[in-house]
Parts: sequence; structure tokens; C-alpha cells
Amino acid sequence: MKISEAYDRVKDIDWETSYITEEQKTVETTKFHLDGVKPNDPFKTFVREYCEQELEKDDRHYALLEAASRLNTGEPDGRWMEGMKFGLSNLVGVEYAAARAMGRMARTVAPVELRQGYMMQMLDEMRHSNLEMNVIRHHMRSWKDPVGFDVAAKAGACSVGSGIFRSMVEDLITSDPVETSIGLQVFVETAYTNLFFVGLSAHASAHGDDMLASTLLTIQSDEARHMANGWATLSTLMQDDRNIPLIQDAMDKWSWRIHTSFGMGNMLFGDYFVRQRTESAKEMTMRWVFDDFYGGFYQKLEKFGIKPPPHLDDMISDLDWMSHSAAIYIFGAWPTFFHRYDGLNDDDFEWFEKKYPGFYEHFGPFWEAYNICKDPEEGRLILKEMGGLPNFCQVCQRPTIFPRPDITKERARKFGDQTFIFCSDGCESIFTKEPHHYVGYKNFYDLYEGMELSEVIKTLGFVRDDGNTLMAQPELEPKRMWTLDDIRSVDYVVQRPPVPPIKP
Ligand SMILES: [Fe+2]
Ligand SMILES: [Fe+2]
Ligand SMILES: [Zn+2]
Repeated sequence: MKISEAYDRVKDIDWETSYITEEQKTVETTKFHLDGVKPNDPFKTFVREYCEQELEKDDRHYALLEAASRLNTGEPDGRWMEGMKFGLSNLVGVEYAAARAMGRMARTVAPVELRQGYMMQMLDEMRHSNLEMNVIRHHMRSWKDPVGFDVAAKAGACSVGSGIFRSMVEDLITSDPVETSIGLQVFVETAYTNLFFVGLSAHASAHGDDMLASTLLTIQSDEARHMANGWATLSTLMQDDRNIPLIQDAMDKWSWRIHTSFGMGNMLFGDYFVRQRTESAKEMTMRWVFDDFYGGFYQKLEKFGIKPPPHLDDMISDLDWMSHSAAIYIFGAWPTFFHRYDGLNDDDFEWFEKKYPGFYEHFGPFWEAYNICKDPEEGRLILKEMGGLPNFCQVCQRPTIFPRPDITKERARKFGDQTFIFCSDGCESIFTKEPHHYVGYKNFYDLYEGMELSEVIKTLGFVRDDGNTLMAQPELEPKRMWTLDDIRSVDYVVQRPPVPPIKP
């Protein structure tokens, strides 16, 4: 029997229930129209083949790790390793959410050809989450300062910077299940994962983190399947004209949503947690995302009536300043994190100025001040010197300093009797379409306003075993580490900044 025949036969095993109706079976519904469409089968794989393939990949990957940990190939770079405490704590949560999202889609989307693909992807995403958790556990055992890796899962759920990824993931798994496919499979996976898993893997390898390099590559080998799922969902939806405006809405939203989360994370990790530099994060993003995805994949959708996303120009011009603005936030708020930082030096300044002309004029003063404030003996905290944190965007949970603090697009508007703040046109328009989806999210000020900073750090649990030394440190090899006592003596109380002018 030919494989395609066998595959069709397997699909025939799908059954309709006699004991409950279709409606009763569907716990969640979708606004998209999927009756009467003929899905293109994204890939014809049997579960047995799938398991064999994945087992082989896992065998190869774990054998390599075993060898690497025995050979002890030298110490990885500290700047990179510490940054990955933040990176992996978020990534593992994104993968797990992707698995949940696929389960929802398999339950909601009727055509069996698509469900089969979603189920396989659900297994892949569980695998990714496990693989990344294994990296965290490996580093917990072998990195010279394991503190921070040991709280990764908890930190991803409560740290202020993780709000950027957490809010995106929560949005993704609570949206219409088919919209989730567009957000996850079209934007996260088709547009950004090459940049993330291939680009970041090259950085990991250049910084001696073989464990992560191998992990990211074996993850990326599954992504082609997820991109195929995205295309299968889109091309199936496009068979019914009533879906076109719904697809357009989802594309408009998720292009911006993923730019502000995954896109920003890529820029930050690629520019600020590396020491061996070749391409800038902006150059990599232009190549992988804007040339390949928007210039290739996305353009092909135009013949079906899909228009380019409304904020495409902003997305491109943001790349000039996005990593730098993100960095002054993440580095400026260092005591509220769980890893060590490495401030910029003269080599970094020179490279940044070459890759991002005007960098020093706009961001140099922050970094000079950062370096002065590193030593706890000086009694100066960069967070207080910069006047505290900015407001946060109710949609993307980024601080409202984008594209650059002096030309921020921050704005506020009323909804009911509450006032909400946004970072950009993109986020404001997302909120306006579905305000109820975003009103409940509690930002840093909702949680900690009026608290003295050492109390915030204690509440977050980011303190070492002695109960006084902070997990986070503003440099890699400090003469003395910052403690809660040092923070207390700076006397910084969390204060909400003024609300920007309210739009009528
Ligand atoms: Fe994944
Ligand atoms: Fe994936
Ligand atoms: Zn925003």
C-alpha cells in the first residue's frame, strides 16, 4: 500500500460522536469559517514514523551533550551565560504555552488533516520545553554561579522584564484558537524562529555554550513542520472569502504583537548579551524577518487580498533603537532580576557606534552612569539615578520608551473609569479592538507601588541563600556583591510616573 493510501485510511479512523452533538463536543468555538473547506495536508506523517524520527534526533543530541560535559571543553563566556538565565527562563514558558495552544487547536479545528498536524506539533513543543529545561538543569549543575538558573521557571512567571513575553503568551493562548495559529505559526515560527534558533545558536556556540547551541538546532529542525502547519491553516482559511477580513485583522495584530515581544527579545539578546560580535541584531532581523518573511512569504499572500500590516514602517524604523532602549530598561532595573550583568566597555561602544550611528549621543550617558553606579560602596543605584522606571504599556508590557526615550510614542486613553497607557499606535489599536482582553493585566506599579525596593526584591524571592545578597549583580566579577542592606540604604521607593496626556 502506498504511504498516501495508508495515510488516508488512518484519517478514516476519525469518528463522529453519537452520544453528544458536535456543539456539545466543542468546548471553544472559532469565529473563522472552516465548514466545507478542503485542507491541504501539511505533511503526511504517521505517529510511528514521527516517534522514530524524534527519537533519533534526541539520541544524537543527548550523546553530544554527554560527550561535551565529559570533555569539559572550557568555560563559556560569562556575559552570555548570565544573559541566558533571563533568556531561557522566558523561552521555556513560551514553548510550553505553544504546546497548550496546539492542544486547543486540535480540539477546536474540525478538519482532521489539520488536527493531525497540530497534534504532532503539540508533541514537538513539549519536547522543546523539556530540552530547554534540561539546558537550565545542566547549567544549574555546571555553571560557576548557578544562582538564577535554579529559579528560572518561577522567575519567568514573576519578573518585571518577563512581562513582555508573559503578556504575549497569555494573549496567544486566550485568543480565538485559529487566530492563535496565525500568531504562533505564521509570526512566531515562520517569521522569527530562524532568527532566534539559528541566529541565537550561532551566538551560543561562539560563546562556548555548546549545550544550548545543540539544543536550539535540534529544536529548529522541528520548526519546518510548524511553518507547514501555519501555511496549511492559512491556505485552508483563504478558501472561504468570509475569512479574508478576519485573517487581515489577525495579521495586523500579531505582526505588531510579535515585533514587540519575540522581535524585541531577539534584538536585546543579539546585541547586549554577546561579546563576540559580527552581524548586529538589526542586520540579522532585516535579513531573516523583513527581507525573507515580509518580502517573501507575506508578499505572496497579497494575491489573496491580504494587505501589508499597517505598522510595517514603524517595525523597520524601530530596529535602529529597539535593542538599546530595551537594554537601558533591563540593565537599569537590574536589582529586580536574577542574573549578573556586564556593563558596556570601550570595545562595545565602538562597535555600537559603527553599527548604529548616533548610539553614543543617545545612550552613551546612560552607560557611563551605569558603570559609575556598579560598586555598592558608592551607594548609588542606577534605577534611582535615572528617576525610576517609566510607565508600562497595557498591551505589550514594555516600558513606554520606544522607539527611543526622547521620541517616545507614549499615550494614554480612558476605558470605563480607568486610564490605560500604551507605547505605540500598534498597541493602542490592538487595545481599542478588544479592550476587555487587556484591562486586567497588572503591571509593575499595580503590584509594587509605594514599596521600598529591598521589599520588592524579597517579595520576588531574588535573594541568595544567605538571605541578604542579591541574586542579580550589575557586573560579572564584583569586588563585593550588592545586598538588601545596600539597597535599603539607597532608599528607593517605587513611584508611578505621571500619566501622559489623555486622548479624548
Ligand atoms: Fe517550539
Ligand atoms: Fe514551534
Ligand atoms: Zn505596547
